[in-house]
Amino acid sequence: MTRDAVITERLVVRPPQDADRSRFVELFGDADFMAFATDVLTEEQAHARFDHMAEVCRAIPFGKQPVVELASGRIVGYTGVDHIEVDGRAWLEWGYRLASDARGRGYATEASLALLAKARETYAGELLAIIDPANVASRHVIGKLGFTFWKQTPIDGDPCDLFTLTLGDG
Ligand SMILES: CC(C)(COP(=O)(O)OP(=O)(O)OC[C@H]1O[C@@H](n2cnc3c(N)ncnc32)[C@H](O)[C@@H]1OP(=O)(O)O)[C@@H](O)C(=O)NCCC(=O)NCCS
Repeated sequence: MTRDAVITERLVVRPPQDADRSRFVELFGDADFMAFATDVLTEEQAHARFDHMAEVCRAIPFGKQPVVELASGRIVGYTGVDHIEVDGRAWLEWGYRLASDARGRGYATEASLALLAKARETYAGELLAIIDPANVASRHVIGKLGFTFWKQTPIDGDPCDLFTLTLGDG
């Protein structure tokens, strides 16, 4: 278990390791896993996404990182932030994604609340979340994380709901 791991009742949330690469390449290429994303990734894009995830996590303790199911030891998804620019402003954007067979059990909320607690130890400021208006499950999760609706805005031409959460004094 890495020193940086966050452990919950059912999950471990920890920075990516080299051994996680093949699992993420598989997940990023899976249409179910990539629901509500622009596209599934090619193998090359998936490797690049994994490299990016690892790079962000080296700089930010709450970067998008693996969610591991304790009972099985399996990586079931990720949660955390990445950098994004929206309307000319740089944000930390919170996102999560689970393998389809790991959904419906509250894992996204459990993993994200644990990593948010870790984020609060080192970060004060706003976080952004971007959700497809049709993504009811994600809208439920983001509310349980404490984010509030800000506005609807087009991103890459598609209407998206934006939510924000301020950590610390902001
Ligand atoms: C969004 C996602 C992470 C949610 O994770 P999860 O752990 O399965 O979420 P939960 O089990 O806590 O379910 C969330 C809530 O949505 C509800 N829900 C789930 N699917 C639903 C659906 N299709 N329609 C309506 N409500 C739904 C659940 O009943 C639950 O309600 P509650 O908050 O009142 O308990 C997961 O579905 C997923 O990975 N989806 C594909 C990727 C994705 O959309 N990521 C987010 C991009 S913004």
